[in-house]
Amino acid sequence: MRNVELKARDPDPARTLERALALGADDRGEIRQRDTYFTGARGRLKVREQQTDDAAFWDELIEYSRPDDVDARTSTYRRVPVADAGPLREALDSAYGALVTVTKRRRLLLWEGVRIHLDEVEDLGSYLEFEAVGEPGSDLVLERNRVERLRAELGIADENLIATSYADLMLEGARDGGSPAAAPSAAVTGQTEEVDSSAEELLRAADAVMHTAHVRYSHFPVGAALRGGDGQVYVGSNVENASYPQGQCAETSAIGALIAGGQTRITEVAVTAAHMDFCPPCGGCRQRLAEFAKPETPVYLGRPGGPYRKITVGELLPLAFEFQPPA
Ligand code: THU
Repeated sequence: MRNVELKARDPDPARTLERALALGADDRGEIRQRDTYFTGARGRLKVREQQTDDAAFWDELIEYSRPDDVDARTSTYRRVPVADAGPLREALDSAYGALVTVTKRRRLLLWEGVRIHLDEVEDLGSYLEFEAVGEPGSDLVLERNRVERLRAELGIADENLIATSYADLMLEGARDGGSPAAAPSAAVTGQTEEVDSSAEELLRAADAVMHTAHVRYSHFPVGAALRGGDGQVYVGSNVENASYPQGQCAETSAIGALIAGGQTRITEVAVTAAHMDFCPPCGGCRQRLAEFAKPETPVYLGRPGGPYRKITVGELLPLAFEFQPPA
């Protein structure tokens, strides 16, 4: 299945509801939903448990992938009804480790095939979402136009649009100490409190690739992003295998991508981990980074949208081993 989606913070849910009803949207009432997220090697899974008086809603397992984009975006997904979501959630939790849980009260309205979600999300606040489900074979132009029209009719300001999922907002919130919708990152340490857009870009890239981590053994996804001498961003996630010590760190994967991209210079580094606010590179990766970086090369440890720690390769690895091969 594919759909066109838009998500935004909603400063005035009562007004949004009023406007949607005035447009002729069909009010389908409230649902309590609890989504438990798991990261897979190639995408995400969530177990959705729903409570409602309406028999049309059941618990389900949802597999999906979506780009992070504030504009109306296309995402693909698969929905599998489950008879008993509790044990499924527990089984997935023990196999993979749950990333985060999002609990919300959702008011569902339907307008010309577009689902309007007015969401009160626990610990996050009020949001709205549009989802226009694509007909099989549709080029999604009609769906996109409907979403854009709704956006105009409900008066959604550009600054309220958001690109990430509730799960990502929750993870950012946990790192921020409780202000999830908060704004761009500010360095915790380092010379500047200003938003560093280069650091933010790298942290976003690291965070995005983290979801590809193959971490069956540690359940500890890590993402790394490196800026090469060409200004491009090269990413990698950790890749484990049945012989645990043979696993490969995210930084190492990213170095491989940079080398495969024809680069030999690292000018900036970012590392992010799902279960750790600041994930310092392991000893081996410090030496690997030092091979292609300078001691003053900045390293950002944290996450996009949350505070991050800025240090340098030289601080991570003082007295780095250097080897001059014999002539
Ligand atoms: N790991 C990284 O990918 N990067 C780091 O900086 C620290 C650790 C990985 C290795 C292993 O797959 C998992 O995290 C747990 O050690």
